[in-house]
Amino acid sequence: MSLMRRVLRFAFDHLENALGRFFPAQWNPILNLGALGFFFYWVITATGIYLYIFFDTGVREAYSSVEYMTNEQWYAAGVMRSLHRYASDGLVIVMLLHLAREFSLDRYRGVRWFSWVTGVLVLIMIYISGITGYWLVWDRLAQYVAIVSTEWLDRLGLFAESIARNFLHPGMLNDRFFTLMIFIHIAVPLLALIALWVHLQRVIKPRINPPRGLAVGVFVSMLALSLAHPAVSQGPANLAEVPGTIGLDWFYLPLYPLLENLPGMVTWSAAATLTIIMVAMPWLPTLRRPPPAAVSLDNCNGCIRCFNDCPYGAITMVARSDGLPYERQPVVNASLCTSCGICAGSCPTSMPFRRGSKLVAGIDLPDHNMADLRTALHAAAEGLTGSQRIIVFGCEPCLPQLSVLSDKVATVSVRCIGQLPPAFIDYTLSRGLADGVALAGCRENSCYYRFGIQWTNGRLARERDPRLRARVTKDQVKVFWVGRLGGKTLNQLLLEFANTLDEMKPRKPLRADRETEDQEQVHV
Ligand code: HEM
Ligand code: SF4
Ligand code: SF4
Repeated sequence: MSLMRRVLRFAFDHLENALGRFFPAQWNPILNLGALGFFFYWVITATGIYLYIFFDTGVREAYSSVEYMTNEQWYAAGVMRSLHRYASDGLVIVMLLHLAREFSLDRYRGVRWFSWVTGVLVLIMIYISGITGYWLVWDRLAQYVAIVSTEWLDRLGLFAESIARNFLHPGMLNDRFFTLMIFIHIAVPLLALIALWVHLQRVIKPRINPPRGLAVGVFVSMLALSLAHPAVSQGPANLAEVPGTIGLDWFYLPLYPLLENLPGMVTWSAAATLTIIMVAMPWLPTLRRPPPAAVSLDNCNGCIRCFNDCPYGAITMVARSDGLPYERQPVVNASLCTSCGICAGSCPTSMPFRRGSKLVAGIDLPDHNMADLRTALHAAAEGLTGSQRIIVFGCEPCLPQLSVLSDKVATVSVRCIGQLPPAFIDYTLSRGLADGVALAGCRENSCYYRFGIQWTNGRLARERDPRLRARVTKDQVKVFWVGRLGGKTLNQLLLEFANTLDEMKPRKPLRADRETEDQEQVHV
């Protein structure tokens, strides 16, 4: 599993980088797969409703009504039919890529098992919806799909009567069967929508809409494809004849030749085994994750910032229980916590300036806490010399390999860049531990822990609490969202940053009497 994850991760990193050259960060399709899935779903729904107006559910009429739409009304219903088809294909592509990407990033084990398992359910439903869609056209491909599917179901031996019998000769098939098919083709996607809602229950503020520009671009491309290569039928179904050569759909039906030719025992066992493996994957093996965030009530004033910033809804605010004069206190649900540390980055008590009392934050990661971070910062700064010293705070999943590590640049690792309270930047500069601070992490819009980069950008821009103090000037802090493969770029950017520092007037470290003021920022 781990080798497969690494290979896929390598491929996705390169794909993300390659697409990053053509698309602005927000628009990169590989970073919008879930949102694109929703977009395709809505296109399928809207075009499906339009097609239903013209579709006739009778056995004899189904084919001719689709032909009417394709040929007579090619400019409206025909285009709708093509959009319906291409959006369904697009849905399969983005869904499979989304699945593979979450797997490659190891975002399917531990607390993420829920999204994965519900995702498997969605996957099955989308396939059922697509396959039943092919039946409705009632052309030669539909005939093939109907016969192979029903023979496969019959091999399960669960039905009192053979379903495939309905397709033995033209007289056997009646309109009721067709009505059942259209019912399934509408009901299953609706159930899939409910399953998608469940799928996102543990993801706070999920991105379900792609950026407008990307959505418009995808829609226009589908429209152009629909006009250039309209979806067409493959001749009317004729149950009196065995369909000869037919064009297969490679998005929904690639396994049909196997279903047709392998014994039922083999195909049903393979399908059952694959489903069980997919569902069990989050526990193959179980993720050994770091301990969840822990609350220290003595240091908490109930400000709810941690609750607002947690990307996984792992924090709830409850009535205060320790007698301190605050209304609320946070409680961490360990089964939802990914140990990203973003809550600690948002806590006003994550203050490195504290000297008198021990550095204990209101909420923190037991294995990677604020006191450890301050110790690591001092250790990193110790080796730096000269007037271009840079401390790079980088996130664990994405900090690329740096070759400029020297007496000028040192790195300090955080679980997610959102774990870094802006006070640490102020502390680094005001204590003279470095001349500049760089923040490095995943590519923009691609934060491993979802909101680390977004919250950090807001904190640095002084638009989101905790804000970077005004005395830190812009030229002293740079952010480099270059991702894991951005080592070369980051080295270059750090060298350029170092040169700008040289041109700046040296700043004096903060006077000792200002530190009292720093400590007073924390009211607990
Ligand atoms: C039509 C199909 C699907 C759609 C539209 C969809 C959509 C989404 C969206 C919008 C998110 C939230 C992304 C974010 O804002 O960070 C998400 C998360 C996720 N999806 Fe899907 N999904 C689909 C199918 C699947 C499938 C088939 C799987 C795997 C079997 C899957 C696994 C996951 C996982 C593990 C997450 C959580 C990622 C995290 O915790 O950061 N999804 N999905
Ligand atoms: S560590 Fe991350 S997931 Fe856990 S409570 Fe804090 S912000 Fe939420
Ligand atoms: S951010 Fe810190 S002080 Fe505010 S509620 Fe959370 S733990 Fe308490």
